[in-house]
Amino acid sequence: MKTMELRFTLNGQAKEWTIAAGEILLDVLRREGYFGTKRGCETGECGACTILLDGKPVNSCLMFAAQAEGREIVTIEGIAHGDQLDPVQEAFLDCGAVQCGFCTGGMVLTAKALLERQPDPSEADVREALAGNLCRCTGYCKPVDAVMAAAHSKKRKDVEEVR
Ligand code: FES
Ligand code: FES
Repeated sequence: MKTMELRFTLNGQAKEWTIAAGEILLDVLRREGYFGTKRGCETGECGACTILLDGKPVNSCLMFAAQAEGREIVTIEGIAHGDQLDPVQEAFLDCGAVQCGFCTGGMVLTAKALLERQPDPSEADVREALAGNLCRCTGYCKPVDAVMAAAHSKKRKDVEEVR
């Protein structure tokens, strides 16, 4: 098997992993213990395997690990600060937007990327952003509420910081 060295940044830390040339990023992440990146359809339909690649949500089941060379990847394990959850994670808990949780990591990362590029989204914007993250449990209302709540709390915090 032909192997290669992969150098990239994962959750803020420099990594150097040995991978097989044709390996898929999802497989490599899970092999290395990043089980928050879920294996769902493996065809780019469900969004359970979402990671952030240079800040943009990407289906890791559709990407060769080798394509991560020199890039910055964030998985769901990388967004809390110690015991302090990310505000989007807090909002999902507060709004009861988590049931089985299989879709949640991907949804949270997609939402984080949305709020970075669009801090004050409409409900339609949120629904459009989450359209690639399928959920069998919630009916989507509570996840959408959670993203709207996270946007409002972020906006309030930004205003307070400016004062
Ligand atoms: S497992 Fe990647 S999109 Fe479904
Ligand atoms: S909470 Fe179960 S799939 Fe979304």
